[in-house]
Amino acid sequence: MILSAAKEHRKTTMGIKLQSINKELGSPPTQILCDINLEINDGEFTALVGRSGFGKSSLLYVMSTLDRATSGQVIIDNTDINLLTTAQLHQFRNGKMGFVFQFHYLLPELTAMENILMPAMKSGREKELRGRALALLKEFDIEAKAQRRPQELSGGEQQRIAIAQSLIMSPHYIFADEPTGNLDSVNGQMVMDTLIKINKDFGTTIIYVTHDTEFAAYAQRQLSMVDGRLVPN
Ligand SMILES: Nc1ncnc2c1ncn2[C@@H]1O[C@H](COP(=O)(O)OP(=O)(O)OP(=O)(O)O)[C@@H](O)[C@H]1O
Ligand SMILES: [Mg+2]
Repeated sequence: MILSAAKEHRKTTMGIKLQSINKELGSPPTQILCDINLEINDGEFTALVGRSGFGKSSLLYVMSTLDRATSGQVIIDNTDINLLTTAQLHQFRNGKMGFVFQFHYLLPELTAMENILMPAMKSGREKELRGRALALLKEFDIEAKAQRRPQELSGGEQQRIAIAQSLIMSPHYIFADEPTGNLDSVNGQMVMDTLIKINKDFGTTIIYVTHDTEFAAYAQRQLSMVDGRLVPN
């Protein structure tokens, strides 16, 4: 069921294109992103690497529409993001994109299952997607913990719940900012295996930031940043 839904989505997916992206912050302004030109194709599994402060998170947020560039174009599935109203952008993002962060944002008062269904609840699709939530729990081997609250789960389990949450709306894209950054190597590996599996089984385009060279090596493609620029590997 999950697989066919993902394939259905992919038919219309065209990928991400960044053209002459610049981003400035602060006063006096400092340039955080410098002339970024990049294409990410449908189904790619990409790692974004570079030293602390070089602009990895900034680039991830601009390409995932969570943040806006100072200049340049972000084109996703043939849509120029700059031309969308805030309401259109929210709808675009909710249907297409899943996010995973270093420190998850699971709600402590909700069970694992309820947390996974949170994005579905927001769009009134909770009932419809309950089966999918169960399938995801099973897929990631956390079925038995469905009724626990986040604080009753290990860090790796919490992160897998966060990944399941990011997948509940069948996104075309997953953007992950250091999804293993807060985990020990065993749990980090488990989360990495989960991302690999999602990419392989569902064809989801995944872009993840990592400091870990071993985890970066799992990607089909590594993008390296130095001082706000993309540099050849
Ligand atoms: N509000 C701000 N004003 C000025 N500079 C900022 C602001 N926010 C972030 N920066 C700078 O932007 C640069 C890029 O930050 P970013 O968070 O994208 O780096 P990063 O590569 O993700 O680093 P890390 O690996 O530590 O997460 C950094 O040098 C940071 O100091
Ligand atoms: Mg960062």
